[in-house]
Formats: sequence, structure tokens, C-alpha cells
Amino acid sequence: MIDEALMSDLCGGVAIITGATGTLGRELAAELARLHLDLVLMGRDHRALEQLAKKLSDLGASSATPLAWDLADCAGLVDTVRQSAGQRPISVMVHCAAADHGGDDEASLQRELRINLHAPELLADMAFGDMQARGSGQIVLLSSNLALLGEERGTGYSRGKAGLERIARSMIAKNRQRKVHILTVVPGLIDSPLFRAGLARRPSWQRRFLKPRLTAAELAHQIVEKGMGRSGLLVMDPRHRALRWLADIVPGWQPRWPRI
Ligand SMILES: NC(=O)c1ccc[n+]([C@@H]2O[C@H](COP(=O)([O-])OP(=O)(O)OC[C@H]3O[C@@H](n4cnc5c(N)ncnc54)[C@H](OP(=O)(O)O)[C@@H]3O)[C@@H](O)[C@H]2O)c1
Repeated sequence: MIDEALMSDLCGGVAIITGATGTLGRELAAELARLHLDLVLMGRDHRALEQLAKKLSDLGASSATPLAWDLADCAGLVDTVRQSAGQRPISVMVHCAAADHGGDDEASLQRELRINLHAPELLADMAFGDMQARGSGQIVLLSSNLALLGEERGTGYSRGKAGLERIARSMIAKNRQRKVHILTVVPGLIDSPLFRAGLARRPSWQRRFLKPRLTAAELAHQIVEKGMGRSGLLVMDPRHRALRWLADIVPGWQPRWPRI
């Protein structure tokens, strides 16, 4: 259950959700709608966002504003999100969008780094500023076990996720009064377009891969229940917790996580 005082703080501002059209993103957006928050829903497909906004208003969102934006385009991003929020402060920021196309050339790498790292960094910095000024708020950054792995090819996804985890840690360090909550979530496997594309381009994983443990709706519910009001790292799949802990304390250890 989310603390009532936290809930009333969060309701005083706007919740921004990137990747709201995605498999996990739309379920997280639905959870926030049930909490009667004002939502700004981000993705690239305006029609899909409009349909989602209507559905989430029916579910209980206080308001739902679609914002179609390609996160590879960082110029003007902060001002545009600010406009969509109607100049209200940001009280919740959930970054769920991700790209894992694995292109090896410099242009593809830079594009993936903009989507997976630079754009969420800009949004998280903006949100963090608002939250520090208000003395409350919740940032949730979706990471991945790939943040731990060195990959030979197409590293824009894993580098981006590793960077996000470090950004969260520096925000926690800056957040001395501990009134803003900054959470990194490693969701475990979700059956989604991103997951299927990742498997397709890493054929050696296909024999070994663990199956998703929960549906996206179950995961989203647990993330909100367990994560709201908390800072740090939330690893949703218990099979991955020891792995994360070891990777953090043993420098240079390279986990071969598909085998666990
Ligand atoms: N799936 C897994 O097994 C897994 C494992 C570990 C971590 N995660 C993390 O969980 C989160 C959700 O993943 P998912 O599995 O739900 O993925 P998904 O269903 O494929 O959704 C991806 C979302 O990212 C958005 N997106 C992609 N490129 C974008 C761009 N250039 N600009 C703006 N938005 C863009 C997509 O928007 P469009 O609708 O416009 O395409 C979509 O909303 C991600 O952060 C992912 O890294 C997933």
C-alpha cells in the first residue's frame, strides 16, 4: 500500500511516463491512473497515445495528455514536456522507453545512447529539480540486467542502462534530505517487442533464456506497490538478486547470467 502522505504529495503534481505505449509502460501508466494522478503519456505514435489517454481517463486518471516525441531528438525535449505538463511541477517521472536495435555503426550507437541515456537524463534532471523544490516526488528508471554485461556488438542499450543506474545513484547522493525517492528497477523478462527483438539478435540466448516470471500487468502492480516511496535498486526477479549483488561488490566480475 502507498503511504497516504506520499500519495497526497504525488497528486499535487504531474506524472510523466516515457514508453507509455509499450508493454510495461502502459501497465505502469494504468497503475498511476488508478491512483488518480495527472498523466503525461509519452511515446512516438500519436494515435496510440490518444487511445491510451482515453482508456486511462476511464480508469481514473485525473487527466491524461498524449505527447508524441522521438526520444532520439533531445533538442527541445525538456521545454516540450514542460508545456505538456501545463507548467505544473513534476511529481512522478517513470522512464520506461528503450531501444535495443543493436546497430554497430557510430550513428546507431549515438541514437541509442540518446534514447536510452541522454533523453531520460534530461527528463530526470528536470523532474529532480521540481521534486527538490517541492520536497517530494518519485523517479523510476527502468534498467536491465544488461547494465551488467559487456556486449561485443550493439552496446547502446547496455551502456545506456548502466549509465541510468549511475545517474540514479548520484541523484540519491545529492538528495540529502531523502524527501525525493529515486528508484532503479530491473524488471526481469517481459514478453514484449523489445524482448523478442533482443532474442532475435542474440541467437545464443535462445536455448538458455529463462521464461518471463510475471505478466506485464502483474509486474507493474508490484513495481508500484513495492517501489513507490523508495530509493535504490529494485530487482523484481528473485533469481537475479544474488547476481546483481555479486556484480556490485566484485570488481571486474563478468556474470554469464543467461546460465543461471
Ligand atoms: N522486455 C524485457 O524483457 C525487459 C528486460 C529488462 C528491462 N526491460 C526494460 O523495461 C522497459 C519496458 O520495456 P518493454 O519490454 O515494455 O518494451 P516495449 O513493449 O518494446 O516498449 C518500448 C517502449 O519504448 C518506446 N520507444 C522506443 N523507441 C523510442 C524512441 N526513439 N522514442 C520514444 N519512445 C521510444 C516505444 O514507443 P513506440 O510505441 O513509439 O514504439 C515503447 O513505448 C524498458 O526500459 C526496457 O529496457 C525490459
